[in-house]
Amino acid sequence: MAAFEWNPALETGNAAIDHDHKMIFGLANQLGAAAARQDGGSVVDHVLNALCEHTRMHFEREEKVMREAGYPETEVHTRHHGQMLFMLQHFLMRRQDTTGRFGMQALSEDMMIFLEDWIRLHIEYFDKRMVEYITAQQRPSTTV
Ligand SMILES: [Fe+2]
Ligand SMILES: [Fe+2]
Repeated sequence: MAAFEWNPALETGNAAIDHDHKMIFGLANQLGAAAARQDGGSVVDHVLNALCEHTRMHFEREEKVMREAGYPETEVHTRHHGQMLFMLQHFLMRRQDTTGRFGMQALSEDMMIFLEDWIRLHIEYFDKRMVEYITAQQRPSTTV
C-alpha cells in the first residue's frame, strides 16, 4: 500500500492549513501502517477516530476562514468536506460492524484508496483555490 508522501506541491501557503494537512497525512500513514501490520483492531479504531476528529476540526477551520472572507465557492467546498466526513463515518461504521461481513483487509484497502484519492484531490483543487483567493483578498491593493 502506497504511503502518503507529503510534497511541496501540496503546500497551500497558509501555515495553519498546511500544518493540519500534514497532520492528516501523518494519521493516514499511521492508519495504513496499523492496517498493514494487521494490528489489533483497537489500534486501527484509535487512529481512525483520531483521523475523523482531526479532519472534522480542520474542515471547521477552513469553513470559518471561507465564510469570513466571503469566498464565492464556500458552498461547493463545504459540500466536498461533507462527503469526506460521510465516508469517514462510513468506515467507522464498518469497523463497528460485528457480523464479520466486512473483512479487515478489504476495509483497509478501501480506506487507503479513498484517503489517497480524496485528500490529494481536495487539497490540490479545493484548498489551493481557496487559499489563493483569500491571499489575494488580503494583499494590499497596489493601485492608488
Ligand atoms: Fe478543504
Ligand atoms: Fe484542507
